[in-house]
Amino acid sequence: MKRIGVFTSGGDAPGMNACIRAVVRGAVYHGVEVFGIRRGYSGMIAGDVYKMESHSVSNIVQRGGTILKSARSKEFMTPEGRKKAYDNLIDLGIEGLVAIGGNGTFTGAMIFCNEYGIPTVGAPGTIDNDLYGTDYTIGFDTAVNTALDAIDRIRDTASSHDRIFFIEVMGRDSGYIAVQSGIAGGAELVMVPEVLTPISEVVEILKQGWSRSKSSSIIIVAEGDEEGSAQEVADKIKVQVDENADIRVTTLGHTQRGGQPSAYDRILASRLGLGAVEGLIAGQKSVMAGIVNNDLVYTPFEDTIRLPKPISEDLLRMVKILSV
Ligand code: F6P
Repeated sequence: MKRIGVFTSGGDAPGMNACIRAVVRGAVYHGVEVFGIRRGYSGMIAGDVYKMESHSVSNIVQRGGTILKSARSKEFMTPEGRKKAYDNLIDLGIEGLVAIGGNGTFTGAMIFCNEYGIPTVGAPGTIDNDLYGTDYTIGFDTAVNTALDAIDRIRDTASSHDRIFFIEVMGRDSGYIAVQSGIAGGAELVMVPEVLTPISEVVEILKQGWSRSKSSSIIIVAEGDEEGSAQEVADKIKVQVDENADIRVTTLGHTQRGGQPSAYDRILASRLGLGAVEGLIAGQKSVMAGIVNNDLVYTPFEDTIRLPKPISEDLLRMVKILSV
């Protein structure tokens, strides 16, 4: 393999730049040319690419976001869009791809590889940590720490004013950020999309707390929880508990997607970026590089997309026990 492309796609995640750096420097080390593709599949369709050298990735290991920019391309979901992308890659002599992203990114890569046979190796970049085939995804650790910083601050004011706070964290289909930031932040309860927590249980836990003279409470709600957004959950609770209960809602939103990557994320991203490019050079195709039990492994895209990555019910149980 003489020339490859690298791109980031879907929601950005802190550590994507460290991953790009590892891909580029790994390729240079192995004598393979690298082209950066801007804005994911959109740039592949538009031919928005540039040659990257070792110096193109200087001074980015510590930066959040992605220097290649990111997008979710509707056009790539069509056969016509993918044909344009393929024609551009052929014109440029690009023989393989490293895709940094999440579920949607790998679904696109798998379809593209099935249609046109261009080998692609993925590196899991998403704050959601919802990909089977890796213990952690790039950006998750930083997002948890960002959420935790906010939770700690909110706890101070919640305690001063004897308030109940519902804090919404990201995770459309995944409760990983909620569980980890909830445990580390000493939350009274964590609500996640994977396990239904009925409103009656939330009310019960709040009442139990009051009976033990708890004057403030923090409840973490993952964005995709079945009972609704943090605001909706708070509204439902308000009518069921003491009308005078002082309830506030904070949605952390995209703050969780930005910021300097943690040391853990930089190291993970470096391992996965190098693992992806070396896998590609060694003949891997349609797989994601991941770290499982501290070993580098390659998992078919089909499995990373299809197989669930269950949330630990033990951890959810622990939140309830420790909040007593
Ligand atoms: O997949 C990462 C993620 O941050 C989810 O947690 C969230 O639901 C979604 O992206 C938000 O996407 P957007 O930036 O398009 O609003």
